[in-house]
Amino acid sequence: MTTYSLDLGDATSEVCQPPFIACAVLTMGPGDIRELLRFRTPARTRTARRLQRCVTIEDLRREASRRWPRGVRGYVDGGADGEVSLDRNTAAFQNFDLVPAALRDVSIVDTTCDLLGFSSAAPLALAPTGYTRMMHPDGERAAALAARDAGLPYALSTMATTRLEDVAADVGGELWFQLYVWRDRGLTRDLLDRASAAGYRALIVCVDTPVVGLRVRDAHNGFTLPPRLTPGGLLDMAMHPEWCLGLLRGAPITFANFVDGVSNRSESVMEFAARQFDASVTWDDLHWIRDRWRGPLLIKGVLDADDAARAVDVGANGIVLSNHGGRQLDQAIPPIDVLPSVRDRVGDHVQLLIDSGVRRGTDIAIALASGADGCLIGRPYLYGLGTAGAAGASAAIDMLVSELRRAMCLMGAADLPALKSGGQTFVRKRLAASNHHYGRTPI
Ligand SMILES: Cc1cc2nc3c(=O)[nH]c(=O)nc-3n(C[C@H](O)[C@H](O)[C@H](O)COP(=O)(O)O)c2cc1C
Repeated sequence: MTTYSLDLGDATSEVCQPPFIACAVLTMGPGDIRELLRFRTPARTRTARRLQRCVTIEDLRREASRRWPRGVRGYVDGGADGEVSLDRNTAAFQNFDLVPAALRDVSIVDTTCDLLGFSSAAPLALAPTGYTRMMHPDGERAAALAARDAGLPYALSTMATTRLEDVAADVGGELWFQLYVWRDRGLTRDLLDRASAAGYRALIVCVDTPVVGLRVRDAHNGFTLPPRLTPGGLLDMAMHPEWCLGLLRGAPITFANFVDGVSNRSESVMEFAARQFDASVTWDDLHWIRDRWRGPLLIKGVLDADDAARAVDVGANGIVLSNHGGRQLDQAIPPIDVLPSVRDRVGDHVQLLIDSGVRRGTDIAIALASGADGCLIGRPYLYGLGTAGAAGASAAIDMLVSELRRAMCLMGAADLPALKSGGQTFVRKRLAASNHHYGRTPI
């Protein structure tokens, strides 16, 4: 079916009312109508049509949700315990007013920046996520491809479902590796050395996971690796045939980077992984990692200014302020709320990245004006992957980068130094009393 859109330029909403349009069309000649109606050629493939319907990250979330069985949906969308942090992460960004600067020349907007020595097309990187082939059979390769094509870094997780060497060989680009310090330090050392040998340039050590948070949705849905089928789960899968086919066609889903370490076959891979999270990790382990890893080092999961300063003392080149997207300690403070104090404490020479709750270009602008050098995104690109594989992840990146460009333009900041140095002139935290109109956010 051919769809069309009526282009009335910057028409007001009354002019767009159907009766008005009907009268206007009736009084026109065929030439006028041809001028006025722009026919939109429908996209050829189903994937492209799906993407055509998506304008925002929330649209991608809705599309991906239709395609995923409940277990996958719950795993991606969910947070820990009461999901308080999950909700507050997105709400925290809405808690700012933007104050644009008028009449600046914003005819050219430049979003390029340095991220740990990499010249990035935008202040954005794809965060490490586990199980990524559950969201789309192309999983980590597709995410890395989207990042590479957009000129952004991609961080591969310890819990990836594709071998780190394969992502490096098949895709390349600016690759970072995220490390969990496993109970088995030999396994940890092997992962580190393999990442270095495969060409991963930066290391992210995630420090907010001494134990895995309680993901209530996963517990309710029986979400495990390998998937354990229940009659309800089977029915749910049957209702998502495309996802099922993708899963069946691909190699079995497993934690591809340490599956050989699973010695006791009576436990699931997930049980093995859960056993490897080590609650005894301390700053001493960071010293050991710093000595072994020659490239840039980021510490992810810090939310306290003193901890950030200590990480810098140990030799970290940057910090990722993160509450793991609300998936670990519930009610952990939204990272955007601690950013200014951390920046004050560590000074300007340390790179500060921030994640958890970034859903719009304005969120990135707020983070930069509040002292960040860049943002990481987790769920937004997973929603893109779930909608349309690599093309969907690219769409998610494009949305956020073009929203950032538009926000910078409207705010009067032609480049990132202008946005950062504008600081308090551009963004102001709302007073608690003026928050009453903010309800629960859709994501
Ligand atoms: C499905 C999913 C899996 C994740 N897996 C990991 C992981 O393996 N390692 C890690 O350091 N962080 C992991 N994270 C956290 C992300 O790296 C990032 O901190 C978080 O997604 C940012 O919040 P956002 O999803 O609101 O953008 C995961 C997040 C999600 C949503």
